[in-house]
Amino acid sequence: MTNSHESDGASSLPTGLRMWPFKRYAEMHRRSLEDPNGFWAEQARKLDWYKTWDRVLDWNPPYARWFVGGKLNACYQCVDRHVKTWRRSKVAIYWEGENGETRVLSYSTLFRDVNRYASALQQIGVKKGDRIALYLPMIPELPVFMLACARIGAVHTVIFSGFGAQAMCDRIEDTKAKVIITSDGGYRRGKIVPLKEIADEAAKQCSTVEKILVVKRTGHQVPMTEGRDVWLSSLLDEAEVLIKPEPLESTHPLYILYTSGTTGKPKGVVHSTGGYLVFNHSAYEWVFDIKEESVYWCTADVGWVTGHSSIVYAPLSHGAAIVLYEGAPDYPTVDRWWDIVEKYGVSIFYTSPTAVRLFMRYGPEGPQKHDLSSLELLGSVGEPINPEAWQWYYKYIGRERCPIVDTWWQTETGGIMISPTPGIEPIPLKPGSATFPLPGIDAAVVDSDGKETAAGQTGYLIIRKPWPGLLLDVYGNPQRYKEAYWSRFPGSYYTGDFAMRDEDGYFWLLGRADEVLKVAGHRIGTAELESAAISHPAVAEAAVASKPDPLKGEAIVLFVTLKKDVSPSPDLRKKIAEHLRRVIGPIATPDEVYFVDSLPKTRSGKIMRRVIKAVAQGKSLGDLTTIEDETSVEDVKRAYESLRKISDPDKGA
Ligand code: PRX
Repeated sequence: MTNSHESDGASSLPTGLRMWPFKRYAEMHRRSLEDPNGFWAEQARKLDWYKTWDRVLDWNPPYARWFVGGKLNACYQCVDRHVKTWRRSKVAIYWEGENGETRVLSYSTLFRDVNRYASALQQIGVKKGDRIALYLPMIPELPVFMLACARIGAVHTVIFSGFGAQAMCDRIEDTKAKVIITSDGGYRRGKIVPLKEIADEAAKQCSTVEKILVVKRTGHQVPMTEGRDVWLSSLLDEAEVLIKPEPLESTHPLYILYTSGTTGKPKGVVHSTGGYLVFNHSAYEWVFDIKEESVYWCTADVGWVTGHSSIVYAPLSHGAAIVLYEGAPDYPTVDRWWDIVEKYGVSIFYTSPTAVRLFMRYGPEGPQKHDLSSLELLGSVGEPINPEAWQWYYKYIGRERCPIVDTWWQTETGGIMISPTPGIEPIPLKPGSATFPLPGIDAAVVDSDGKETAAGQTGYLIIRKPWPGLLLDVYGNPQRYKEAYWSRFPGSYYTGDFAMRDEDGYFWLLGRADEVLKVAGHRIGTAELESAAISHPAVAEAAVASKPDPLKGEAIVLFVTLKKDVSPSPDLRKKIAEHLRRVIGPIATPDEVYFVDSLPKTRSGKIMRRVIKAVAQGKSLGDLTTIEDETSVEDVKRAYESLRKISDPDKGA
């Protein structure tokens, strides 16, 4: 470790930070920022285009349009391209059902399926530009339908199968999807999740839905509405074997994926075809060092962005062999995952810190029972990984042989932004740090005035240049796009995250700086939880904060005031928690519910967030002077004291 290479690509380092001698990475990063258009054009040439672009980038802040004039097709990149080579006989998907069933799809069977499914979509009238809601368990049909949509230019919006009817309905209403694709259930912990019934409930409230296409998974009886509902199998009987992939504009939307923000309504993040694919194709290679013989398993659900980019589009664009597992990580036994790693010879394993902490709790015996010698590289995503979990992962899963790539990114960034890049060159790792930005990513940590912070100082993470994975827009709400990402630090993309760079320039991601929670790696807005809480008939007002949780990272704490004539009771507390679970899904279940007489508010009626947070976390109020301007310190103190008294577990209702 030396200081002598400061000139090697220290371009993005604020003064005072040391640069380590990562020659290849540093050189590539420097070059990518000096000539972004040249750099990204070079990356884009790795894909197959029907027509090359006229311009690499149209940058009309805050809108970036990449590879303008170029035409390509995402399904073609992920499937057709490979069947023209020896990869036609290569495994594309190893699928394992929770109940032990297995299926293996080669690239040629995947090709057959995407064509037939695309034909099924056409049979029910789906056209280019239509939005299609996918509400499916983790079965091969989910990626196949995503690709089938991409093949004909339909825009998929995957709804996480753990979401309830209301969350589903909100998303469908926003996109005006006319088709829902679901199944007769999926397995979770041995039970059948009744997806079709939930979809029916959502469809009741969504006027745009014309068809529900149903995949058979469990074989259990589901209600079918005549004229609206149709089994996939009945369409496949008539399916054509070849549907030509549609040459699409690079800027054609590939998908819309909803994510939580700071207001009650989730944001529909729209991703492009060309920019998104180029970015993910490159990032995947740099981060995972993918090789032809790799067996890659990302344990995320396809319903999140990790599933879109890191299970479907990036690996398949490389012709990689992926593992897809339907069920719970510890079912029927706590070593289920390690059994899968051994069975398929997984070499690259990508999961979340919450999962690592779950297995830490179970102890090392589970992984120790299995031969994990196929593993070469481990990854982490979704939330900060605490050094203790990192060490456990390194020791018991990677057996002290496998580097860990801690990858920082977001639904909006489309792909991995900050991470070690063993595919470029190995970088000395620091447990808990995502290390450095990928080539082409101009990340910085700044104070509230937008000035770069000194080493060791916490600030806000921003990205100073557009990159090809940047979202196109917030669906139907350009104003929100501008406000959420581009107004806080004009000219730069605001991530909503706290971060710090150490004296070596390494990035440390320190959690959300806004009103968004990360519960077990799932992103959920306090406002979304609050509006679900007040939809319970007994609740008048609600405020949500989080408290640190040793397993989930953050746990939900809910404060509510009740309507007149409703009395607090332990039973009501349970019912409210159950209501949130039903309306949004299991991830929204609060760990604690407190009944309070009133919520602390500023004079203009805004909830005093700091007060709620401090009480939820059992902390003192800290520096009161920085609280919401218009509120007196005395008011805040009074609110804090009264709330704390009520939420004291020994005294509370
Ligand atoms: O707070 C950061 C956290 O997850 C947020 C993005 O959440 P979502 O859009 O659901 O995407 C998650 C999967 C890509 C970020 O704003 N986050 C993600 N990865 C990390 C992380 N925090 C720390 N370290 C990470 N590696």
